[in-house]
Amino acid sequence: MANRIRLAAIFMLSLGSIFAALGIAQEPAKEGAKQSVGAEVIPLPAPRHESGTSIERAINLRRSIRGYADDPLSISEISQLLWAAQGFTQERKEPPRLWNPKYEWQGGYRTAPSAGALYPMEIYLLAGNVEGLAKGVYKYVPKNHSLKKMTAVDKRTDLSAAALKQPSIEKAAAIVVMAGVYERTSFKYGERAERYVHIEVGSIAENVYLQGMALGIGTVIIGAFADKDVKSVLQLPEDESPLAIMPLGKLPLPAVAKNP
Ligand SMILES: Cc1cc2nc3c(=O)[nH]c(=O)nc-3n(C[C@H](O)[C@H](O)[C@H](O)COP(=O)(O)O)c2cc1C
Repeated sequence: MANRIRLAAIFMLSLGSIFAALGIAQEPAKEGAKQSVGAEVIPLPAPRHESGTSIERAINLRRSIRGYADDPLSISEISQLLWAAQGFTQERKEPPRLWNPKYEWQGGYRTAPSAGALYPMEIYLLAGNVEGLAKGVYKYVPKNHSLKKMTAVDKRTDLSAAALKQPSIEKAAAIVVMAGVYERTSFKYGERAERYVHIEVGSIAENVYLQGMALGIGTVIIGAFADKDVKSVLQLPEDESPLAIMPLGKLPLPAVAKNP
């Protein structure tokens, strides 16, 4: 019996060293947090805060792009797009005064405005063709700019099926899905929260569009999908409502011809 326990301990320790060598942290299991139990945490490369593309050029080039080149996206590009969506721009250690204690305060102001700085949006990434990131579904964690692995299954086709089989979703190298947690905002704003959360999706989406343009990556905001099906494909918790889908892929050449 003692030998078996010793063997199990050695096995767990070896697993820990393998994860450490790969730069993958094992998050400690949290009671009641079904989604994060034992999830792998993948640190993302630090985002850049400068580029050679002016904001005016990105705004002028922005178009909804539904067809992409076959090239993979890099993990640095994914890092940049997720930062643009919901990354930190300034530390804020304490949560706002009216913060729903049911949720964890992440610790910073973010790239997109949010009513009361309550940040109700959760960002998921479906990776399909990303260099340096295995296929699967991940949740973006702003507090340490990392990804938490939810499943290793490629869900792009299932997600497309939940959204009228839109080909942009199936063909994308990666896909961002935004899910709103109304309770985080309604704790302070009551019924007004619904409006606020919907406004926030638009702000976040525009950041992703513009950051994409600066990187030569196309996207489109997709609102036509069956909520229940998207929720089921991504195994979203009860309090998260899918609000927008944004497929991502390298721009096909004709798309950049608008404003060379
Ligand atoms: C709320 C909303 C929902 C949308 N839903 C879809 C969609 O389901 N599928 C799609 O291909 N485009 C969708 N779009 C993108 C619009 O079709 C697109 O923004 C519009 O044609 C204008 O083109 P532009 O974005 O290139 O300026 C949506 C846009 C918004 C704002």
